[in-house]
Amino acid sequence: MTALKDTKANAMWGGRFASGPDAIMTAINASIGFDQRLYAQDIAGSRAHAAMLAATGIITPNDAAAIGEGLLTVLSEIEGGTFTFRTDLEDIHLNVESRLTDLIGEPGKRLHTGRSRNDQVATDFRLWVRDQCDAAIQGLTALMGAFLAQAEQGADWVMPGFTHLQTAQPVTWGHHMLAYVEMLSRDRSRFADARKRMNECPLGAAALAGTSFPIDRHMTATALGFDRPTANSLDSVSDRDFALEFLSASSICAMHLSRFAEELVIWSSAQFRFVRLSDKWTTGSSIMPQKKNPDAAELLRAKLGRILGATVALFTVMKGLALTYSKDMQEDKEQVFDAADTLMLSLAAMTGMVSDMTANRAVLETSAASGFSTATDLADWLVRALGLPFREAHHVTGSLVALAEKKGCDLPDLSLSELTSAHPGITQEVYSVLGVQNSVRSRNSYGGTAPDQVRAQIARWKAELA
Ligand code: ARG
Repeated sequence: MTALKDTKANAMWGGRFASGPDAIMTAINASIGFDQRLYAQDIAGSRAHAAMLAATGIITPNDAAAIGEGLLTVLSEIEGGTFTFRTDLEDIHLNVESRLTDLIGEPGKRLHTGRSRNDQVATDFRLWVRDQCDAAIQGLTALMGAFLAQAEQGADWVMPGFTHLQTAQPVTWGHHMLAYVEMLSRDRSRFADARKRMNECPLGAAALAGTSFPIDRHMTATALGFDRPTANSLDSVSDRDFALEFLSASSICAMHLSRFAEELVIWSSAQFRFVRLSDKWTTGSSIMPQKKNPDAAELLRAKLGRILGATVALFTVMKGLALTYSKDMQEDKEQVFDAADTLMLSLAAMTGMVSDMTANRAVLETSAASGFSTATDLADWLVRALGLPFREAHHVTGSLVALAEKKGCDLPDLSLSELTSAHPGITQEVYSVLGVQNSVRSRNSYGGTAPDQVRAQIARWKAELA
């Protein structure tokens, strides 16, 4: 934003100080370079506090009105880019209060009655993180919609399902897309849960012990959209678990994005060709003209490193801190800011990429039929039709897979006499279970990959997201 200006004395707490701080002390101590992002929350908190001070008779209505007006002027100065942030005033709280007093004089000096920067920063930061929970929920909802649209388009398209990245059983494209809808839905509920828990107002806890002024904490809590005031002043100013919950939920979410990103990298390769990523989310090479690199997917695969790094950093800052506030906790903000920015950008990029990608239905189907993907169907048929114990059926099927592998063909290409060489009871009927379409249709258990199951889940999600 605007330039930082240094002066010598600290007008806000300099009473007992004979000299100003060392320049390096100012550099390590000041948070204004980053906590200016909390300006809107800080001003909202101060306006609620001033109105409450007047309602409880702690300051006059005239002073409260001057403060309220003055804070709006400060807000417009910051948003208009004309505000000078001062490093010597440490942080956003002192910068706003100091400018307010410049503007309105004595009433400005009454604003800090019955509060401390400790409850102020706890309040501002909760408000900010609360907004980020809402933004994450919104971003996740959009991404779920993009996956759902993909699922709907290819509810019954067959593709190989993998375990160990080896062909396992045929599944449907819609089923694979819906797997991510499930994951993202749990991510969404983690942010909603965290939001609910953090929605208590620390304002009025003051430095750590509460205040002797007859403040009304319920009034400020309501004004700022909190469910209630926090119930223990020591806890109010000293915990940052709400930020850690946000970071933890963000890490889990980024891990989910990273997994799909990896699938996209694999799927968009020339060897797989399962999907085509649009030009909007890929880049070319400066030397190899044929290249279309999945850079966005690769970056999304990597972003968890950054978000989890922030999570570990804040846990490390908080570990072992005795109650209540310690300046260590000023190190909370940059981590959360960076993680939140990274997560919102990641959600937007993934939503764009998923919306724009085109699945290659024919390649998916061909690939689904390779790698003896219906071997389990054959074993299940031996159990169902011939009454073989599953272990025996598994063994018989294994010998047929070995035979097909030796011949260089797939299971449906084996002749009936070849099949009966492994077990005399096998009949022509077995061929019906060796096709991939029948295979996926047969997995009709609840939550299974059969198109009917997938369509039922699509309907449920459509209703839920509507
Ligand atoms: N800038 C500080 C922070 O982010 C605000 C609280 C400062 N409180 C104090 N007593 N020094 O944590």
